[in-house]
Amino acid sequence: MEHRTNHLSTADMQADDAAHHLHPFTDTLEINERGARIITEARGVYLRDSEGNSMLDAMAGLWCVNIGYGRKELAEVAYRQMLELPYYNAFFMTSHPPAIALAKKLAELMPGDLNRVFYASGGSEANDTNIRLVRHYWASMGKPEKTVIIARKNAYHGSSVGSGSLGGMAGMHAQGGLPIPDITHIDQPYWYAEGGDMSPGEFGLARARELEKEIERIGEGKVAAFIAEPVQGAGGVIIPPSTYWPEIQRICDEHEILLIADEVICAFGRTGNWFGSETFNIRPDIMTIAKGLSSGYQPIGGSVVSERIAKDLDTHGGEFAHGYTYSGHPVAAAVALENLRIMEEEKIVDNVRDITGPYLSERWAALADHPLVGEARNIGFMGALELTPDKSARAPFAAGAGTVGLICREFCFSNGLVMRHVGDKMIISPPLVMTTEEIDELADKAWKCLDLTLAEAKSQGLMVAGER
Ligand SMILES: Cc1ncc(COP(=O)(O)O)c(C=O)c1O
Repeated sequence: MEHRTNHLSTADMQADDAAHHLHPFTDTLEINERGARIITEARGVYLRDSEGNSMLDAMAGLWCVNIGYGRKELAEVAYRQMLELPYYNAFFMTSHPPAIALAKKLAELMPGDLNRVFYASGGSEANDTNIRLVRHYWASMGKPEKTVIIARKNAYHGSSVGSGSLGGMAGMHAQGGLPIPDITHIDQPYWYAEGGDMSPGEFGLARARELEKEIERIGEGKVAAFIAEPVQGAGGVIIPPSTYWPEIQRICDEHEILLIADEVICAFGRTGNWFGSETFNIRPDIMTIAKGLSSGYQPIGGSVVSERIAKDLDTHGGEFAHGYTYSGHPVAAAVALENLRIMEEEKIVDNVRDITGPYLSERWAALADHPLVGEARNIGFMGALELTPDKSARAPFAAGAGTVGLICREFCFSNGLVMRHVGDKMIISPPLVMTTEEIDELADKAWKCLDLTLAEAKSQGLMVAGER
């Protein structure tokens, strides 16, 4: 990696950062005391920080840099688009070539009859659109009382007031008055932690049937939609048992409610197919997309709506009084289109499905042999390790969720590996271009960091099982 940018010393940048920058999902006091880790460059699957340390980025940034860092083609497309038309909007009867071309490309790639996109700048905005869209849809169809959206505990759908309410993160709801009214949450299909003595299959069915019970409890005439991630990402790469999605699909088919698949993480190859909906045979009415759409090179997302819903809205909806200044931003749309072109040309999704995904599964599964790991699961290029003091009991640590996970995350950083911790789950979502050699490096470093974590946990007396 060649050095391109002149910047201040790490200490000076940390001081300026502490003085002027409020960080997302960060304890300000802590970051300001420790000083932020400052990432200055990235190429391929590697990051470099301001001290010159290189790190394998097993998280693809925040689950988004699917194509890897440093792709010149994307920079060139952005440059050309900025010179040609840096900005125009899609309000008030106008459009522009990049937004049109990307919409057409998305319709071609999408499963089923998902055919029309409403653009946003990211996943949170797109899910906010979905809240208004499904309620507007039912009102337009003469059923204005259908307003309730059923979501799931420990889901993540974004951080705005609307999307944070759809999400089921208790810590987020505790701040800022969430959730907004008419959103309810059912339990998640998290077998490892919540399955007890049930088989995964039985548990998957039981959790799916909670949706039917919730529809009955609220009354079908009041329910607008169900929203879920095909695989819960930020909740800890929770891969549902194989019985879960077919039962959810059956329930949605048998009831008059819309199904929203939030594929902000799963879309564009993450699960080994273009869409998580293909992997799990889901037929959504609306799909939320963002992240991998532009591989994170530009902020862009959207709600992709089925032809059936779009036609109903054409006929009955009138003006949808909703939109963002940057809906379909020309530079973001042009970059997303180029990203998708490269993904297709280089057969990146096929490669994950046929070669690197299976290889990652093999290397990842072997981490379950480590004494600290209760389960090693993955699907395509997303995975989790459940850390435990007692493998056979799938026990949590008595010290409280996240204590040991945090220790492991810090060992990863100091050993040149970016893995994230969610409580005591270590999670990965590598760039989809990661090679088999780089997967070896990831698995070898992960094992080493587990060893270091185990030794540290033992020395701190943390290998004690607690209650679920
Ligand atoms: C499933 C899902 N939906 C929505 C979002 C929110 O997207 P954004 O951060 O782009 O607003 C995320 C972000 O991680 C996500 O994982």
